[in-house]
Amino acid sequence: MNKENRYEELYRQIRSVVEGESDAVANMANTAALIHETFGFWWTGFYIVKGEQLVLGPFQGPVACTRIPFAKGVCGTAWARRESIVVPDVEEFPGHIACSSLSRSEIVVPIFMSGEVIGVLDIDSKELSTFDETDRIWLERIVTLFEIV
Ligand code: SME
Repeated sequence: MNKENRYEELYRQIRSVVEGESDAVANMANTAALIHETFGFWWTGFYIVKGEQLVLGPFQGPVACTRIPFAKGVCGTAWARRESIVVPDVEEFPGHIACSSLSRSEIVVPIFMSGEVIGVLDIDSKELSTFDETDRIWLERIVTLFEIV
């Protein structure tokens, strides 16, 4: 299966797991697990906007930073810019926050509610240049499947 087909299947799986469940933590937890298992990423998880910071939410993978300020790191920058960021090489991203020194590339997708960013989906890879437009498009679709707060 190519990446497009895997995302189509993943999208359907996530939709069937989250529909009928209104709890945000439960839905974020299962979504992180499904994405992580499907692609074998290094770290897959959510950060949720709380005041001026992003606070760690449900995730799969190694222990991570718990708080990221607005406009800091890739996550805080995606929040500030209100758009997804694909980072082919984290060492080339000024201000990247290294929760794990093994992370080499990353994608961060903001999650909107009523026009406001309420959190982000962050995925890290141990390989360089893991993420492209296909990931961005599908992950942006996936985060519309449920509400996170
Ligand atoms: N690298 C991220 C921080 C979060 S961890 O990678 C899980 C960033 O720069 O925002």
